[in-house]
Amino acid sequence: MRRTLARVASLVLSPSGMAAARLVLPTAAMPVPGQVMLACRPSGDDSLRHTLLPIALHADGLTALQPEGASWQPGELLDLLGPVGHGFRPSTARRRWLLAALGVDPDILLPLMDMGIGRGVSVAMWAESPLPPLPPQVEVPSDVEPVLDWADYVGLALTPDWLDANGPDGSILKAASRPRLAEALVILPIPCGTGICGACAVGGGRTARRACIDGPVVALEDLTR
Ligand code: FES
Repeated sequence: MRRTLARVASLVLSPSGMAAARLVLPTAAMPVPGQVMLACRPSGDDSLRHTLLPIALHADGLTALQPEGASWQPGELLDLLGPVGHGFRPSTARRRWLLAALGVDPDILLPLMDMGIGRGVSVAMWAESPLPPLPPQVEVPSDVEPVLDWADYVGLALTPDWLDANGPDGSILKAASRPRLAEALVILPIPCGTGICGACAVGGGRTARRACIDGPVVALEDLTR
């Protein structure tokens, strides 16, 4: 996995008002929507790497939510590992995208939203929490059920805790996993990023996956069967 240095250019607020950091990094180290980065201070002050969740991808870097416990300052250098794992892979044939944030900050899905806008597909976005201001071409339905019938691609972001609380048979997941391409970005700590520690297991039984190797974006069917 690539290891690189990134510079904290500035501290900003995400569109939803969360603390975020604008980082400058080499083009070759840039993630695609859904991929994460693992970050720590080069000095070794951090006992574990923090999982960086990008909320915007730029020509010279990215903006990511500030991980809990990180207190990075502008001008600091960060030691980054990544991009980690697989990102979202919507087929170019899919033209009606529904993006839904289930128990997580909807900012996390903004890079995927930007990808959809860039492709010229129809994008609808739904979240359990209030959505940030979105570009005018993005539909914001008040009810997710009708949009699930309309969409031919579904991109989700959720946590294992949300899955435990709502179950794989929860109505949104059940509808989203009807025959179509549906993927879920699973938000959880990724301590090593190399598949060794086993801390990032998602799913169970024959479909158990490690988020750092097999994800962090996985086929929804791997979470619901
Ligand atoms: S983070 Fe260690 S196995 Fe995935």
